[in-house]
Order: sequence, then structure tokens, then C-alpha cells
Amino acid sequence: MTGFVPAGMQENVDLGSRNTFGIHARARYFCAVHTLQELRVALQFRRVKKLPLLVLGGGSNVLLCSDYPGVVVQIALHGIELLTGTGDEQGDPQGSELLVRAAAGENWHEFVQHCLHKGYHGLENLALIPGSVGAAPIQNIGAYGVEIQEWLSAVTVLDINTGEVETLSSAQCEFGYRDSVFKGRLRGRKIVLDVTFRLHRHAQVNLSYAALAQALSGLTDPQPADVFNAVCAIRRSKLPDPAVLGNAGSFFKNPVIPRLQYDALVRIHAELPSYPVQDKAGQPSAVMVKVPAAWLIEKAGWKGRICGQAAVYQQQPLVLVNRGGATAAEIVTLARQIMEAVERLFDIRLEPEVQWIPAEPPG
Ligand code: EPU
Repeated sequence: MTGFVPAGMQENVDLGSRNTFGIHARARYFCAVHTLQELRVALQFRRVKKLPLLVLGGGSNVLLCSDYPGVVVQIALHGIELLTGTGDEQGDPQGSELLVRAAAGENWHEFVQHCLHKGYHGLENLALIPGSVGAAPIQNIGAYGVEIQEWLSAVTVLDINTGEVETLSSAQCEFGYRDSVFKGRLRGRKIVLDVTFRLHRHAQVNLSYAALAQALSGLTDPQPADVFNAVCAIRRSKLPDPAVLGNAGSFFKNPVIPRLQYDALVRIHAELPSYPVQDKAGQPSAVMVKVPAAWLIEKAGWKGRICGQAAVYQQQPLVLVNRGGATAAEIVTLARQIMEAVERLFDIRLEPEVQWIPAEPPG
């Protein structure tokens, strides 16, 4: 068995086209899996070879800091299904709720588009987020007033060690701001196979995000398609298209700080914005607030700065970009310089949102 290499498993593969930063790290082994069976075979291979495992979705939230010495598995499971006969009709006599299941390898934005065209509403605020359906619950993707936790019903996962397939409810996913159980207790233990969403047949738009409400202020009765189009337009105006300029979206999380610290900062920086955060019970927190990392980075003087071929994006300093041929070391150096500058000025430690692999790169 030790000499056995499964079909589709390639050796020494450049991952440049498999991560949206466009970093040319190499995988010792790489394979894309299209079925659960192929995934099981790939896992068996890495177990026998005693190699580390890296699971990739769309590669839109990773920074590959060095070549990967193990097996990289890209989840390419496909399919979207409207589930019927769920038994939920009892509590929902008008049948307005819909359960829609998407396989982990589906492209997120295409899935959102599919739902819009079919009249399954709820996800339109999350249009144009790069990445795959399977990666979405890992960091509880969110934008323009919506996080997927609001619409997620269940996640089917494969346990890497036991090979068992299990279903986790939304509560079991322990969602938080850009956070879930998959980044905590279950890190490295489960692979998402599919995600089921509880969507709505009746249009209910969410305009809680000020910039979105502003963009649609001319419409008396905005529809989900209007929200979808407005979100796409806002994102295109602010965020770089990874197909044109390599990036992984927000590089840092917006920091959540004690209100007391915020009050002290605001005495010096009167214009520092803040947003409410929810506590564990889902209520607005009385003691913590969220502040925009973009504001801190800009104020610290890092907007538009460059480090070799890595740069801080001019329109949105929360995003670091690859201007062409950047190395991961350049991006890491830039990120660390920003973190130091922000900490020195505001006593706030920025936390990367993008997953660094390995987590503590040298340098
Ligand atoms: N700001 C500046 N300077 C800038 C840009 C923004 O000071 O050049 C400040 C402004 O105060 C602005 C605030 O930052 O009001 C917020 O900016 P924006 O609305 O662009 O949102 P964000 O907080 O920077 C978050 C998410 C984005 C998401 C947007 C919209 C995180 C880490 N990022 O960014 O998510 O699209 O809100 O909801 O929470 C991603 O996760 O990859 C991502 C792009």
C-alpha cells in the first residue's frame, strides 16, 4: 500500500492557480476530489504516507507561506438540491421556507446567483464573496448586514479520523464573527461535504447596512435582485477582483475591543467609528464594541503602502494585494508591519482573518 498512489493524485504541484492570492507554493501531493469515495481514498493515502493534510476550497482565505510538505485536497463535490418533504411544513403552513442543500465544492457566488434565479431568498447580501460553499461556514462569511449563520440550517461533515459522516445543526457550529467550531474545537478534524440553507420564498430584503440602504434609497420597494445588484456594485467599486489582482478579501478581522478602551481612544480620535457586537446570547454587548480595521490601518498611515510586490489596497486598506509575483514573505512582512503600527498607535492587536499556512511563518 505504501507505494500506491491513487488516480488523480499528482506530485509536486504548483498551487498558484488554486489560491486567490496567486502565491506559487508547491504541494508535495495534490488532488481534486469529486466524490466522497475519492475523498476517502485521498485521506487513506495521506494516512498510510503519514503526511499532513490541507483541505482547500476556493483558496480564497489562505496565505500559503511555504511549500506544503503533505497532501493538499481540493474539494470539488458538486450539486444543488431543493429538499422537500422535510417535515418542516407543519410549522410553516404557507410553505414559505425552503431547505436548499449545496455541495461543498460549489462556487459560493454562483450558488447565490442560482438561489436568486430560483426565487430562494436570503443570501443576496452575500453576493460576490469569493470561495466555495464548503468554506463558507468555517468562517461564517458575512457582508452587508448578513452572516450565513442566519440562513444556515445544517452542515454535513466527514470526520477525518473515523471516516464517519455526521450532520451538525447551526447551533452546533458555534458561530461567531468570522468564527465557528471548525476554527476552534473541531479544527483539522472535519471536512465539510455539504451545507443546507433555510431560505425564503417570500422576498424579505435586509437593508441594515448603511451603505446598502443608501445605494437603494431611490427605490420604494427594493427586491432581492436589487440588493444582489447593489451589493455586487459596491463590492466591485471597493474590493479588488482576485482574477485581476491577487488577494484574499479582508486580511484582518475588525477588532472587538472593550468599550472602556474605545471611550478612551475616542477622546484622542474623535472620528473613530464603532459598531455594536453581539454577546454569546445574541444580544448587543454592553461591554464590547467592534471598530473598523480599515480605519485604524488608514490612520496609522498604511493605506496604499507597498512591500516588494505586496501592497495595501488603496480603496480598502483591509485588503492586501499581490501586485504580480509577490512572495508570501512579502505579504507576511507587510502584514506584520501593519500590525505593529496599529498596536503602537492604538494598543489594538489586529488578528489576521486569512489563514496562514503554516500559522507561524518564519521571518
Ligand atoms: N474605512 C476607512 N478607510 C477606508 C475604507 C474603510 O476608514 O479606506 C472605514 C470606514 O469607517 C468605513 C468602515 O471602515 O465605514 C467599514 O468599511 P466597509 O464598509 O468597507 O467594511 P469593513 O468593515 O472594512 C467588512 C468585512 C468585509 C465586508 C464588508 C461589508 C470584515 C473583516 N470585513 O469590511 O468582508 O465585505 O464589511 O459588510 O469583517 C471579507 O471578509 O473578506 C470581506 C471583504
